[in-house]
Amino acid sequence: MIVLGIETSCDETAAAVVQDGNILLSNVVASSMDLHKAYGGVVPEIAARSHIESILPVIDEAVSVVGWDQIDAIAVTYGAGLGGSLLVGVMTARTLAIVKNKPLYAVNHVHGHVAANFITETDLENYSLPNKQPEFPLIALIVSGGHTQLVHFRSMFDYALLGKTRDDAIGEAFDKVAKIIGLPYPGGPSISSTAKNGDAQKYNFPKAKLDHPYEFSFSGLKTAVLRLAQSEIGEDFTFPSKALPERLSEAQKADISASFQRIAIETVVDKAVKACMEFSPKSFVIAGGVAANQELRKQLTEKLPIVPTYTDIKLCTDNSAMIAELGCLMAMSDQPTADPYSLDIQPNLSM
Ligand code: KG4
Ligand code: ZN
Repeated sequence: MIVLGIETSCDETAAAVVQDGNILLSNVVASSMDLHKAYGGVVPEIAARSHIESILPVIDEAVSVVGWDQIDAIAVTYGAGLGGSLLVGVMTARTLAIVKNKPLYAVNHVHGHVAANFITETDLENYSLPNKQPEFPLIALIVSGGHTQLVHFRSMFDYALLGKTRDDAIGEAFDKVAKIIGLPYPGGPSISSTAKNGDAQKYNFPKAKLDHPYEFSFSGLKTAVLRLAQSEIGEDFTFPSKALPERLSEAQKADISASFQRIAIETVVDKAVKACMEFSPKSFVIAGGVAANQELRKQLTEKLPIVPTYTDIKLCTDNSAMIAELGCLMAMSDQPTADPYSLDIQPNLSM
């Protein structure tokens, strides 16, 4: 079984080919990230336009490792994501499914992040992959720029959402805090590298207390960082956040980064530990862009009762290998196909 996966939910135009549910044959990504940097976040119109320019060459390159004859099915992200961006991938996949006469699978992006951990083999260079596939039942912690969720999987296609964020996603909190203290976008990598020079115990930011055991909230933490930064420079809450970065010292930025990161990571780790205690899973998987965070990996490894599974950083952030992987597993377990004449996007698709 060989499946082409197409992913265009945000700023990455990506296509990949996966074989037999675990072997990555190709993985091609064109990112419009550099075009968005000047705006401090992804601009939907720019992302959609750049998908249109990149998608056909990216697919050609991904398919060239085997040729179209060998492709058994096409999988595409139909949600969640930016509407204009999703449309480019879905319309391309629908057209190719009709023209090349291949079955089409509609993939949930967030589910795809979890599936990335099931890729265990590749001849491509510089991938460090899990040495075996995770086992069920499993708990997945999905942490990205758009999502913060804990999901309980009884099998790959039988799962229940335990809880998600009520406001900002954890990656979004990293991005917003980075902006407040003047670190470059995306904030995750810049906060975690700045944090290395800081004191994580310097500030005790509040953790959101919610009545639900598995829900999250990060908007209060972001505001707490803003208020602290204002008071550190001797100003009150009316001081404009735009003018903050030039008044903060490098040491203050490092301490804020380290303290914020500690609290944000502890928040998700506490709930992950609770879920493991309640459900006694055989595997625990970390998925999504924030899974690249070393502090998260360290804390989970120390505190969870089982060894967490995480994959190569290239497969944690948005990619199409995860979409091809899940499409391949769908095809291998006779999941329903999508209609290439009517498959629609679902920007707010949930798990
Ligand atoms: O999964 P992803 O590539 O896109 C979404 O589906 O959202 O995740 C991107 C997010 C961004 O918010 C970025 O700041 C965050 O992942 N991120 C990190 C790190 N690397 C990326 N957050 C914390 N630490 C990192 N090392
Ligand atoms: Zn994602």
